[in-house]
Amino acid sequence: MIMAIVIIILGAPGAGKGTQATQLAAVRAIPHISTGDLFRENLKSATPIGIKAKEFMDAGRLVPDEIVLDMLSERVALDDCRDGYLLDGFPRTVPQAEALDARLARAEPAAQLHVFNLEVSDETIVQRIAGRRICKSCGKIQHVVLSPPQVAGKCDDCGGELYQRKDDAPEVVEQRLRVYHEQTEPVVAYYENKGVLKSLDGERDPETVFAQLEGLI
Ligand code: AP5
Ligand code: MG
Repeated sequence: MIMAIVIIILGAPGAGKGTQATQLAAVRAIPHISTGDLFRENLKSATPIGIKAKEFMDAGRLVPDEIVLDMLSERVALDDCRDGYLLDGFPRTVPQAEALDARLARAEPAAQLHVFNLEVSDETIVQRIAGRRICKSCGKIQHVVLSPPQVAGKCDDCGGELYQRKDDAPEVVEQRLRVYHEQTEPVVAYYENKGVLKSLDGERDPETVFAQLEGLI
């Protein structure tokens, strides 16, 4: 029987989840589902979910589980997720992880689960987030020092305008890190206790991290 593949990338804010997930999902030909990106898209279209999520995101807090779970259930029920999907930024609380487990237990065809944790120090995170820039048109993630754009302010791939996320302001980053340690680190322990967690050194350059990820699947 063909098995679907479900990949979870865990890690603190700025750990490199999006950078790795974009590449891994492309290579594996499965959808890259970032709950943060879904909320930002909802906000752009001014949907009730987007407007509700904004107040939490701007404050560096987690969006309540019910809202996240409803949005995610809808997304993974779409046809393109039949052979699997890659989750970036989900689950972020133990109840979210339990809800995903319940869904996977019912899934047809059964899914092979891979859970990765990108380990990065708080100091590196602050440096990565401070310089992050994202393309308005194609979503490419760059960094003003670590992966500087060839033309200042323009995306290397499509020439689109680069912008900085509102929640990347230093005081919000501090709060996001606090929330990560309090609410999301228990999710790392949850998967460790189940014996499915693979931790990686996320401090290395993106190509090295990617090669390690690929090698572990
Ligand atoms: P979300 O958008 O998921 O943000 P996050 O988890 O805080 O993570 P980031 O996107 O900031 O970082 P990343 O790990 O993707 O790093 P990136 O690859 O960009 O969530 C935002 C908000 O939405 C949350 O705060 C919450 O409010 C809400 N939310 C989302 N999901 C939720 C959920 N499940 N439950 C409740 N609320 C939820 O890299 C960062 C920078 O570093 C870039 O500049 C990049 O170029 C650079 N870089 C990356 N890797 C490397 C490397 N190896 N070496 C050098 N530089 C690197
Ligand atoms: Mg991200």
